[in-house]
Amino acid sequence: MQSTSASGDALHVAIIMDGNGRWAEARRLPRAAGHRAGVEAVRRVVSAAPALGIGTLSLYALSSDNLKRPREEVEALFDLIRAYLDDEAARCARRDVRLTFFGRRDRLPADLLDSLARAESRTEHGRTLHLRIAVDYSGRDTIVRAASNAPGSRRAFGRALARAMNERVPAPAVDLLVRTGGERRLSDFLLYECAYAELVFLDRPWPEFQATELAESVAEFHRRERRFGALTRHAAS
Ligand code: FPP
Repeated sequence: MQSTSASGDALHVAIIMDGNGRWAEARRLPRAAGHRAGVEAVRRVVSAAPALGIGTLSLYALSSDNLKRPREEVEALFDLIRAYLDDEAARCARRDVRLTFFGRRDRLPADLLDSLARAESRTEHGRTLHLRIAVDYSGRDTIVRAASNAPGSRRAFGRALARAMNERVPAPAVDLLVRTGGERRLSDFLLYECAYAELVFLDRPWPEFQATELAESVAEFHRRERRFGALTRHAAS
């Protein structure tokens, strides 16, 4: 029997796309070349996701801590995200993919903010896949901001969390978190939402990640028994 998502619907898969810098350095290329190759891997997973039963795909493109990297690397990442959006938003709209972003919006350059807003409005009717991209995102800071609104229930807290990460509606809990690049940690990504996520860690660096590995990760998810802390299967509340 297949594992279902916490909400019983299509899966929410989150990916920490790690290993771009090391992939580039191993080839004596600038780190930005690793991020560029990473964008190709993003295209591959977005194309493959709907057929694998994935309804929500959350990608960690830029953490708040990544902003502490040298200015030129941060600017290369801003440029890449903007170029991806300018190239892909129309294609996402045609493929019925909704694109949204979560994270702080007060430290991003104005032209990137424009691209984010354009991509969100161009794709807002997409229903086949919800592609969420984290930009200047910190799980801990989001929780702290949401908690300061002090709602009394998990549902209300979920709404406060969405507001704290600049999203209009709360996303479902993460079912499967995949991290490439050999490290085995969460690095401040979706800490609350991953409470019962199944974790898959892969050594392969993100630029080499293939659709088949996403399929294998989803297959691994379906082999796991999810009990959500209870004794019976599928007991998510
Ligand atoms: C981690 O690798 C990856 C990042 C900090 C950036 C990820 C961004 C992209 C793949 C491109 C833009 C994304 C989208 C959605 C258009 P690292 O640099 O920490 O690698 P390292 O651990 O090998 O140094």
